[in-house]
Amino acid sequence: MKILSESTVGTANGKIILIGEHAVVHGMPAIALPFEAAQVTVEIEPKNGETTVESSYFTGKLSEVPATLYNFVEALKAVCKYLNQSYEGLKIKVNSLIPSERGMGSSAAVASALVRSIFSYFNKELTKERLFEFVSISEKIAHGNPSGLDALIVSNDHSYYFIKGETPEKLSIDLPGFLIAADTGFKGQTKEAVSDVGQLLRDSKGKTSELIHSIGRLTKKAKRAIEDKDPRFLGELLTKAHEHLTALTVSSEQLDQLVQVALESGALGAKLTGGGRGGCMIALAEKKDEALKIAEKLEKAGAKQTWIHSLGEDAND
Ligand code: MEV
Repeated sequence: MKILSESTVGTANGKIILIGEHAVVHGMPAIALPFEAAQVTVEIEPKNGETTVESSYFTGKLSEVPATLYNFVEALKAVCKYLNQSYEGLKIKVNSLIPSERGMGSSAAVASALVRSIFSYFNKELTKERLFEFVSISEKIAHGNPSGLDALIVSNDHSYYFIKGETPEKLSIDLPGFLIAADTGFKGQTKEAVSDVGQLLRDSKGKTSELIHSIGRLTKKAKRAIEDKDPRFLGELLTKAHEHLTALTVSSEQLDQLVQVALESGALGAKLTGGGRGGCMIALAEKKDEALKIAEKLEKAGAKQTWIHSLGEDAND
C-alpha cells in the first residue's frame, strides 16, 4: 500500500555516441557510452487532482503539455496501464543537468528516469528489459525511426557496440584517453536529420549508401582501436566520421567550427555526436592536461559548456 506523503526519485544517465550515429539507423554498427554529466532525475510525489509536470521546458497540467512532450505522456500512460494504476494524482518534477535536444540522449534519459520513478513509486520491480521496452515507446514518438541505441544505453548504463536488430555487444572501454564534449548552445534536430538522411538515401542512393557503409567501416575499426588501446588511431577515425556526417548534411556551421578548433588545439580527433544540426561535438585527447586545454579553447570559440570524460577503466561501470 502506498503511503501518500512519500516521493520517489528515478535517475538516468544520458549518452555519448562515440561513432556510428545516423549510419546505425541504416543497419551499420555504432559505439556509445553512458554519460553521467547528462544525468536526469524524475521525482514523483502524490497530489490531489490532475497530474502536473514541472520541468525547465514546461510547467503545468499533464493534459496541457506541448506536442514535444507527447513521448513523455505516452510513456507515463503505458507504464501506469501496465502496472494497473491511475496516472492521475501525481506531481512529476524533471531535472536535467544539461538542456534538452543536445544530442546527449536527454529524451531517452528523461523517459528512463520517469519509468524508474513510477515503478519505484508503486513499489514494483523493474527489469532492464521492461525499462528498455518503455523507453523505446517514448523514443519512437520523439524520433520517428530510432535505431534503439539511445534506449539501450540509458536503460543499461554500459558502453555497447550496437547493430540494430542484433543482440547488443557490451564493450568495455579502457584506453588512455579523455573525451571532451562541448555544447554548441544550439538545439539539435535529430528527428529532421534522421528523416533527411532517409530522403537523401532515396534521392541519391549510390553516394549516400557509400557514405553510410563507410561510417560502418570506420566504426568497426574504432572497435579495434578501443580493443588495441590505441587513442591515436581512434582519433583519426572520429575525424573521418565527422567528414562523412557533414557530407550526409547533418553537421552545422557551429559544429564544424568547434571540430576545427579542437583539431587545431591538438585533439587526436573530433566529430559531432548524436543527431547533429546543432547540439554537441566530442574531441579526443590522450592526456588530461591536453583535454583541459582543448576544452578551454572550445569555450573561447563559443562552446556554451564543456565536459571532460575519462575513457580509462573507472569510467565503465
Ligand atoms: C541519435 O542520438 C542517434 C541517431 O543515430 C538516431 C538513432 O540512432 O536513432 C542519429
